[in-house]
Amino acid sequence: MDRATPTAAGPSILGVTETLPYLDPARPVAERVADLLGRMTVEEKVGQMMQLDARAGLEGHVLTTHVGSILHASPQRLAEAHDLTARTRLGIPLLVGEDCIHGHSFFEGATIFPTQLGMAASWDPELVERVARATAVEVAATGVHWTFSPVLCIARDLRWGRVNETFGEDPHLLGELASAMVRGYQGAGLDDPTAVLATAKHFAGYSETQGGRDASEADISRRKLRSWFLPPFERVAREGCRTFMLGYQTMDGVPITVNDWLLNDVLRGEWGYTGTLITDWDNVGRMVWEQQVQPDHTHAAAAAVRAGNDMVMTTPQFRDGALDAISRGLLAESDLHPAVSRILTLKFELGLFEDPRRPDARRQAEVIASAEHTDLNLEVARRSLVLLSNSGVLPLVTGDATRVAVVGPLADDAQTQLGDWAGSSGQADWIMQGHPRSMITTVLDGLRSTVPQGWTVTHSRGADILTLAEDPAGAFFPDGQPRPQVAVACAPDAALIDEAVAAAADADVVVAVVGDRIELVGEGRSTATLELVGGQVALLDALAATGTPLVVVLLASKPLVLPDSALDAAAVVWVANPGMQGGRALAELLLGHIEPSGRLPISFARHVGQQPTYYNQVRGQHGDRYADLTQRPAFAFGEGLSYSTVEYSDLTLGTAAVGPADTVQARITLFNKGTRPVLETVQVYVRDLVTSASWADKELKAFTQVRVAAGDSVTVEVEVPVADCSIVDAAGRRVVEPGRFELLVGASSRNEALLAAVFEVVA
Ligand code: NOJ
Repeated sequence: MDRATPTAAGPSILGVTETLPYLDPARPVAERVADLLGRMTVEEKVGQMMQLDARAGLEGHVLTTHVGSILHASPQRLAEAHDLTARTRLGIPLLVGEDCIHGHSFFEGATIFPTQLGMAASWDPELVERVARATAVEVAATGVHWTFSPVLCIARDLRWGRVNETFGEDPHLLGELASAMVRGYQGAGLDDPTAVLATAKHFAGYSETQGGRDASEADISRRKLRSWFLPPFERVAREGCRTFMLGYQTMDGVPITVNDWLLNDVLRGEWGYTGTLITDWDNVGRMVWEQQVQPDHTHAAAAAVRAGNDMVMTTPQFRDGALDAISRGLLAESDLHPAVSRILTLKFELGLFEDPRRPDARRQAEVIASAEHTDLNLEVARRSLVLLSNSGVLPLVTGDATRVAVVGPLADDAQTQLGDWAGSSGQADWIMQGHPRSMITTVLDGLRSTVPQGWTVTHSRGADILTLAEDPAGAFFPDGQPRPQVAVACAPDAALIDEAVAAAADADVVVAVVGDRIELVGEGRSTATLELVGGQVALLDALAATGTPLVVVLLASKPLVLPDSALDAAAVVWVANPGMQGGRALAELLLGHIEPSGRLPISFARHVGQQPTYYNQVRGQHGDRYADLTQRPAFAFGEGLSYSTVEYSDLTLGTAAVGPADTVQARITLFNKGTRPVLETVQVYVRDLVTSASWADKELKAFTQVRVAAGDSVTVEVEVPVADCSIVDAAGRRVVEPGRFELLVGASSRNEALLAAVFEVVA
C-alpha cells in the first residue's frame, strides 16, 4: 500500500487541488471523523485505540503500532514523538497524556501544589479551580494535552496507599472539588489553547479495598455504589468531563474494564455520557495475567472493545490480540469504530490537526512557575494547613530572643514535602533527582526566613524513618513492572535523639516535623500500620519529656495514628504534602502571620484497628465502641481549629415543613469570641430520622465559608434542596422519603459540634 505522507491537498484534477475532507477545518467534526475513519487500515484503527509508555522508546509505537496516544514522555521524547508523527501516512496527531496530579508533576521546575488531599482541606472549590487552571496553563505549554486528574475515589480505609490522591472521605465535598478541578483543567473549552483534557478516575469503587490492599476486589454492592461512590462521577459526567479512567479492580467478580452494567447501563445509558473511556495501566492484560478471567490477550482485547473501552493504556499485546480477535470473528472491524471515532473527535475538537500543540519554549518561559502561580501555590498551601490541637502555644509570640529547635526527619526534606506524583516520586525516569531544591521551601527554610530578627533556629534530624530492601518475592511483577522495594523501619537512634533532646532542652519551643515518606505512599504501597514509622515515636516521646513546649508538624500524606506524646503536645498541625511553598505557609501559621483555616476532609484514627473511621457510617451496629477502645476518631471529618473560638447559636429554619421541590432554608449566628479573625467553614449535614433502608446517620449536604472579625457576630444563611435529602432505597433507587429530618449545622461532623433543627418533608 502507498503510505506517502498526506498533505492538505488531495488529488489534483486539471490543476485544481482539493483538500482532503478530514484535513479541512471548515467541515464539521463528525464529517472529518467519518472521512478519516474511511481511510484507516484495521491496524491503524487498533493502534489509534492504544496508549503506550513513551519511556520504552517511540519509533515502534508511532511508526509500527500507529498508537493514538502516549504517556510518560520526557520533554525530549515528546519532541521526538511529534517529529515521528509527522512521518506517518495519515498524519494523525498524537494525544499526549500525563499524570499532572497536583501541578505539572514531572516537568522540571513546574509549580507543585499541595496534594489533592491537602487541597481538599481548604474546602474551597474556587481555589481548587484556580489551581487546576494554573496547572493546565503550565501543562499546555509543554505539549501535553491530557491530564489523568482528578481522583474521585472516596477514601475510607486509611491503610490504602493512595489516600493522598483523593479529596477525602465525603462524596459531597469531593463532588464540589472535583467539579471545580475539571472546570479548571478544561478551561473555556477544548479549542482554548490552554485547556487540557481532564480525567475522572478511577471509575468506580477502586478505593473500596479490602484491608487497604491496592486494587484488591472491591467488596461493594450496586446499591452502595449508587449511594456514595457514583454520585461524584455522575456529576462530572453530566458537567462535561471529557474522559473517564476505569479502575483496576474487580467488583462482584467483574473487572471494571468489562463491567457492562457500570459502563453501558449506568455511565453511557442513564447518565448519557458521550466522553472517552481510558483503561488504567494494563487493565486489559491484567484480566489475563492477574485476575485470570480471560484466557489470552485475544479474548481480553475482544471483551474490552465490546464493553466500550476507547483507549487502552499500556497493553502492548492489545494490538495483536485485537487483530487476532477480528481475524477469528470474535470482533468485527466495525466494532472498533465507536472507540476510534471518539478518540479522533477529541483530536479534532482540540484542533490538533491544525495545531498539534507542540511544546512552546517561549510560552513555557512565561508561565512555568510564574510569579502568579507561585503566589497561588502559597495561598493554597496556607489554606491547606489544619491546626488539630493547640494549648495556646500558637501563634508563637514568646519574646524577643526566642529559641526555636526544629527537629525531625522531615524538617528539611524537600522532595518528601512534595509527596507522590511529583518529581522524584518514581513514575518518571527523567526527573529522578526531583524538582529544583531552590524552588522548595522546607519547614526549616520557612522558619529560618520568617522568624523575627533576634530569634534563633536550630536544626537536628532526631530520627530516621526507613530503609529499603528488595521484596523477598523478587524484583519484578509478572508483567515486567518493577516491584517496589519493601520498607524496613529504622530503629530509634540514641545519638540522634540525644542531639535533638539537647537542642529542645536549650530552646523555648520545639517544632518536630514527622510523618511518612514516599516509600510508604502510593500505588502498591499501602501500609499495614498507620503509626509513625522508624525512630519518630521515640523521638517525640523524648522531646515531650524535656518539658519544652512541643509543636508537632505532621507532614504525612494521609492521616496517621499519633502517639500520646503528640496527642498531648502543645499543638499539632497536619500539613499533608504541602507542595513547594509548604514550609513558608507553615512558618507563617506558626508565627501568627496567617490564621489557620483548614478543615479535615478525612478523619484521623486513634488506632489502625478502628478502620474504617469515616463519619458517615450506616446506622445499626450494637453499641458504639470496641471493648478495648472507643470508636471515636482522634480527629473527625470537618474538624480544624482557628486562633480564635467561634460560637454557633440560634439555628432557625425558614419553614419546618417542605415539599420535595423546595429548599430547606435556615440561618445561624456565628460569634467570634476571641481576639483574632477567623475564616470559618460552616458545615451543613442532614440526618434522615427514619429510612426505609439502613442509611448513613448523617451526611454533609452543603458548606459555606465566612470571615468573622474578632468580637463580631454574623448571621449565615444556609440551604439544602430537599431533592438532596435522598437515600438509595433497597431497590437501588434514589428517593426522597417523606418524614422527619434534622438539619445539623456547625463546625465539624461531631454531633457535639452541631446544632439541630427538625424539618419535615411532606409528600
Ligand atoms: C496507574 C494509576 O492507577 C493511574 O492513576 C495513572 O493515571 C496511570 N497509572 C498512568 O500513570
